[in-house]
Amino acid sequence: MTSAKLIDGNAFSAGLRDEIAARVREIRDEHHVTPGLAVVLVGEDPASQVYVRNKNKRAMECGMDSFEHILPADTPEHHVLNLIEGLNDDPAVHGILVQLPLPRHIDSQKVIEAIRPDKDVDGFHPWNVGKLASGGIGLIPCTPLGSLMMLRDHLGPLAGMKAIVVGRSNIVGKPMAHLLIRESCTVTVAHSQTRDLPAEVRAADIVVAAVGRPEMIRGDWIKPGATVIDVGINRVVDHQTGKNKLVGDVAFAEAVQVAGAITPVPGGVGPMTIACLLRNTLTAAARLHRLDIPEAHPWA
Ligand code: GUN
Repeated sequence: MTSAKLIDGNAFSAGLRDEIAARVREIRDEHHVTPGLAVVLVGEDPASQVYVRNKNKRAMECGMDSFEHILPADTPEHHVLNLIEGLNDDPAVHGILVQLPLPRHIDSQKVIEAIRPDKDVDGFHPWNVGKLASGGIGLIPCTPLGSLMMLRDHLGPLAGMKAIVVGRSNIVGKPMAHLLIRESCTVTVAHSQTRDLPAEVRAADIVVAAVGRPEMIRGDWIKPGATVIDVGINRVVDHQTGKNKLVGDVAFAEAVQVAGAITPVPGGVGPMTIACLLRNTLTAAARLHRLDIPEAHPWA
């Protein structure tokens, strides 16, 4: 029985954060610019609180300024919009991230569209969505960018490969598909209405799973030798221990026997997302101040 190579997101993201920290030092020393990231959280969702804390901690470790705005769950929409307007105009802030999901009384799309596109480090503003779709230069959503970095690191150029993206969300599925098209893959986007999903997955050299359903993609759906990127982070009860555990959208124990390489959960895509957020913040700061720093990964 063969076993897939594990794609280590912890190690990869640590290397990426070291590179970012070195660039931050450089532009602080040479140009007196400190990249600043503002993170806005509305409400008390425990998972979101953990993410926001991690983002701030990692930003500061890289030498960036970090501005945390934590607002109560019943904050009116216009308060959030006013806050964003202030951050748009604040010269110390180069990147703005509003943690999703927002409480139901707030129109998420309206909030996303209020962020200045050149500070939109999530890459969710229609301007950045359009740039990605039309092959222009904008800011790329963090999870798809991190996934692509791991694919390129493991496989080299992806041209001509068959890729399937399972899931069509605005945060992951759609931007991932656009990135893979840009890499000259032949791309299938599967979703809840797809007929014979196992057959679609079996045809793919690259599988990106982003559906948010625990272990939905089974090992016998995977083409032998394929590269599997598991974006899912699902909290489930471990039947053996009775405790909570994290699993991906791929049945890892089965898939690891068939795939050529696979990302584990946790320790795969997750840490790459924050590293790419910091990279986008650095990119935004460099562009806003017209600093000529080399792109860390010219293909992304
Ligand atoms: N919630 C889950 N993923 C994300 C993300 O990538 N960005 C933001 N802002 N919120 C999220």
